[in-house]
Amino acid sequence: MGGIASIPLAPGCVPLVGHAPALVRDPLRFIASLPDRGDLVQLRLGPRTVVMVCDPDLLRHVLVHDDAFDKGGPLFERLREVLGNGLGTCPHSLHRRQRRLCRPGFDGERFPGYAAAMTGLTEETVNGWRDGRIIDVLDEMTTLTARIALATMFSASLPASLTQEMLRDLGDIMGGLIRQVITPASLARVPTLSALRYRRARLHLRASVETIIAARRRDGSDHDDLLGTLMDARDPETAPPDGQVLSDEELTDQVVTFFVTGADPISSTLAFALALLADAPGVERRLHEEVDRVRAQGPITFERLPLLELAGRVITETLRLYPPGWLFTRILTVDSEIGPARLPAGAMIAYSPYLIHRRPDLYEAPDDFRPDRWQDPHVPRNAYLPFGAGARRCIGEHFARTEAVLVLAEITARWRLLPVTERPLRCALSTTLRPAHLRLRLAERA
Ligand code: HEM
Repeated sequence: MGGIASIPLAPGCVPLVGHAPALVRDPLRFIASLPDRGDLVQLRLGPRTVVMVCDPDLLRHVLVHDDAFDKGGPLFERLREVLGNGLGTCPHSLHRRQRRLCRPGFDGERFPGYAAAMTGLTEETVNGWRDGRIIDVLDEMTTLTARIALATMFSASLPASLTQEMLRDLGDIMGGLIRQVITPASLARVPTLSALRYRRARLHLRASVETIIAARRRDGSDHDDLLGTLMDARDPETAPPDGQVLSDEELTDQVVTFFVTGADPISSTLAFALALLADAPGVERRLHEEVDRVRAQGPITFERLPLLELAGRVITETLRLYPPGWLFTRILTVDSEIGPARLPAGAMIAYSPYLIHRRPDLYEAPDDFRPDRWQDPHVPRNAYLPFGAGARRCIGEHFARTEAVLVLAEITARWRLLPVTERPLRCALSTTLRPAHLRLRLAERA
C-alpha cells in the first residue's frame, strides 16, 4: 500500500501555484476530468496537497467514517467565522448531540406548516410578475427562498425592516464568502470594500439573530416554528432530568446555519431547473399537464406532493447536473487507509458531487437533462449525493426537496419562463454552484 506520493497527480500542475490556475480557469471541466486519472487523484494548491476522491464507493467510505475524516479545510475554516460551531461546521466531537437537538425541527409533522409558507410566499411572488418582463431568475429565487427560510424559522414574528436587513446581510455574506475562501489567510484581513462588507454583514446577522432569541426568551410564549422547536429541544441521551438544551450561543449558530446554508442552494436549484425547462419544451409541456391535473383537484399542498412526480424528477435531475454544493473537504484525524493508499493524519481530502454525477461510466449521457432517467431501476443511486452521505448528510434534504418541488409547481402552474438569448447556460464560481447572468422572459400561461 502506497502513501500520498503513490496517488496520480492531476494534469496541469504549475510550479509554486500547483493546480490553482486550472481550477480558476474552468473549475467544473477540470474537476469532471479527474476520474480519468484514477479513483484517487492528487491536487496541489500552493503548498498544500489535496486528495480528490473520484470513486463513489471510496467516497461513501470517507463520508461514513466521519470520525476519521472530519470537517476541515479552507471552506469550513471560513464558514466557521459565519456559522460558528453550528451543525454543518462543528467537528465530529460536537456533532451527534447537536444533530439530536436539531432533529425535531425537521420532523415530518412540521412539514404541512412549512409547505403552507412555501406555497403562500411563492403565490405572492408570482402574483407580482408581469407578462413579457425579463427577470434575473437567480435574484428572484434568492429573495423568495430567503423569505421562506425566515418565515419557517420565525413564523410571522419578524418586523419587515429586520427581514430586509437579514436579506441584505445574506447577500453580502454569500457575495464575500468565496473571495474569503480563495484569499490566502495572510491577505484575508486586508480591508477591501468586499471584505469590510462581508465582515459587517456576518456580525450584523449574528446580532439580529441574538436579538430575536433574546426577545423570544423574554416573551416566554410558545411559537410553532423552527426556532421554537430548537428552543424546546431536549436531548434524551444527556438526561436527567429533562436533557440538555441548546445554549443561546449554540442556538444562534444553528439559526444562522439554517438561514445561510438553507436558502442559497434551494434558490440555485430552482433557477437551474427553470433554465433547463426553458430549453426542454417537451418536458415543460408534460410538467404543465401534471401541475394542471393536480390543481384541478385543489390547491398545491404538502398532501398533494406525491402527485407531483415529474416535478420531483425534474428537481432530482437538476440536482444531479448542478449540485449546489459542488466541492467539500475533510481533514484526516488519524492515519487511515483509503482504497489503495495509506494517508497520514492531517491530510486533506476533497469530494465533489458534481464530479461523481458527471461520470459517463455511471450515468448515460451525463451532461443531458433527462428527468425520466430516474424511472429506470438501474440508475446508480449510490452515485447520487447532492445532499452528501453518512451522519453529516444534509439535515435539510426533505425540507429542500419539498420546497423546490412546491415552488416549481406553483411557478409553472401560472408561468412559462422563456429563453432570451441563444447563449448556453453558464455557471458562476462561488462556494455554491449558481447560474451566471440567467435572465428569462415571463410568459403568462393561458
Ligand atoms: C437544494 C438544497 C440543499 C442542498 C443541495 C444541500 C446540500 C448539502 C450537503 C452536500 C451537505 C453535506 C456537506 C458535507 O458533506 O460537508 C449538507 C449539509 C447540511 N445542510 Fe444542506 N443542502 C440543501 C438545503 C439545506 C437546507 C434547506 C438546510 C436547512 C434548513 C440545510 C442545512 C444543512 C446542514 C445544517 C448541514 C450539516 C448537517 C450535519 O453536518 O449534520 N441544507 N447540505
